[in-house]
Amino acid sequence: MRESVVAILVTVIVSVLGAIQEVESHKDQPLSGIAIHKTTSHLHEKAYVKASPTLLGSNGQHSELVLVEYNSRKPSDDDWIGVFSPADFNASTCPGDSKMVESPRLCSAPVKYQYANFSNPRYNTTGIGSLKLHLINQRSDFSFALFSGGLLNPKLVAISNKVVFKNPNAPVYPRLALGQEWDEMTVTWTSGYSPDIEEPVVEWGIKGRDRKLSPAGTLTFTRNSMCGAPARTVGWRDPGYIHTAFLKELWPNSKYTYRVGHRLSDVEVIWSKEYQFKSSPFPGQNSLQQVVIFGDMGKAEVDGSNEYNDFQRASLNTTKQLIRDLNKTDAVFHIGDICYANGYLSQWDQFTAQIEPIASTVPYMIASGNHERDWPNSGSFYQGLDSGGECGVPAETMFYVPAQNRAKFWYSSDYGMFRFCVADTEHDWREGTEQYDTSSELVG
Ligand SMILES: *[C@@H]1O[C@H](CO)[C@@H](O)[C@H](O)[C@H]1NC(C)=O
Ligand SMILES: *[C@@H]1O[C@H](CO)[C@@H](O)[C@H](O)[C@H]1NC(C)=O
Ligand SMILES: *[C@@H]1O[C@H](CO)[C@@H](O)[C@H](O)[C@H]1NC(C)=O
Ligand SMILES: *[C@@H]1O[C@H](CO)[C@@H](O)[C@H](O)[C@H]1NC(C)=O
Ligand SMILES: *[C@@H]1O[C@H](CO)[C@@H](O)[C@H](O)[C@H]1NC(C)=O
Repeated sequence: MRESVVAILVTVIVSVLGAIQEVESHKDQPLSGIAIHKTTSHLHEKAYVKASPTLLGSNGQHSELVLVEYNSRKPSDDDWIGVFSPADFNASTCPGDSKMVESPRLCSAPVKYQYANFSNPRYNTTGIGSLKLHLINQRSDFSFALFSGGLLNPKLVAISNKVVFKNPNAPVYPRLALGQEWDEMTVTWTSGYSPDIEEPVVEWGIKGRDRKLSPAGTLTFTRNSMCGAPARTVGWRDPGYIHTAFLKELWPNSKYTYRVGHRLSDVEVIWSKEYQFKSSPFPGQNSLQQVVIFGDMGKAEVDGSNEYNDFQRASLNTTKQLIRDLNKTDAVFHIGDICYANGYLSQWDQFTAQIEPIASTVPYMIASGNHERDWPNSGSFYQGLDSGGECGVPAETMFYVPAQNRAKFWYSSDYGMFRFCVADTEHDWREGTEQYDTSSELVG
């Protein structure tokens, strides 16, 4: 059977090297343009920010538009609205509290921001404005703050009420990946449920037949597992819990349905909505495979927030096109430079939300790029700062890949007529290295 399996070596070298230049000329992550730690307090009793509704997702949805209305007594085109999550974002949340710094001592970046004049060109004279901001369920409440002084000298003018999703812990953004065997599918999702208390499970089966339950394992990571700033400092945000289940002994070419959930007690299970996927053909079986392979996609906000030179705007177009083509796609390979979070951890949730319609339906296989992995003296082949201190930890935790060791992003995966071999350009691949030796075996 082996002889009939075609080996494809997916190399990411070219696209990743291309990305380095492109991204540096665009000044990486938009949130890095905010000097949040320099914020000073200019709270004004007559200025306000109000957000509604206060309860989001009341119909079980995990994204919603929030109306933010505000009024400033000294408006300017420099004013901006920052979205903070958790909603309490003052110094009481800072690690290693230092009494030397003056209040308000903000130490976490917003999860997104927008200029106060965005939908009201007259804001700079009237001081009255409003925004419709798109929020996704990210396990915590949100608040909105009005700043003057631009992004570089933020002056905190007013803070809003809090808004929160009905179930902030809910299981969200399932993503499929091929397993180590051809007849295995893995499903990974994010929640706020600690596995010590609630049991993560997947309920699944061939459409219309009996279903079974499979357990999931849980991973997470801490601020200390980040290699440097901003991931360890202003970009840090608790990633919640990442659960992965292995759905095994799949029948070839079959339509499966599944939902992910958390068993809180014998009688109470919190379920996600229901999703579907199609299992792999029998290896080597004469069949048509359609795969999409790309790198460098990035993420963007549907409400136009965070735009820096319109960088990454097109990732929404790409995402839409992938969704339109889903019924002729067997698997997606996103071979590095996944979301350009670059150390701003909130962006990973937003990326998994953006690709949910794709990743919950077909295997979403990732490879590692410079923007996921590179950090000096952290074992990456290149010594650049491109991961913003993430050094690969969020990528290897948020997404499953069938590698022997998930920190080393090379693997192979069989699907129908093909064996896909994915290389890791961010670890040494030259002759005599571990990657060279093990990859030669993977190619078979
Ligand atoms: C709003 O402010 C930004 C930043 O200061 C500026 O670039 C933009 O032109 C302003 N937009 C409008 C509609 O005035
Ligand atoms: C910071 O937030 C905490 C929690 O909401 C609150 O108790 C405290 O008063 C706030 N401190 C300042 C200086 O605003
Ligand atoms: C306010 O914004 C308008 C539209 O962008 C601009 O023409 C005007 O010069 C601005 N006024 C001030 C005081 O900045
Ligand atoms: C992306 O979509 C938007 C809105 O649909 C469109 O205006 C824009 O031209 C598209 N951009 C690219 C690069 O195709
Ligand atoms: C995919 O879906 C579109 C629209 O739903 C339909 O027009 C098209 O025929 C489908 N293609 C395949 C290959 O099923």
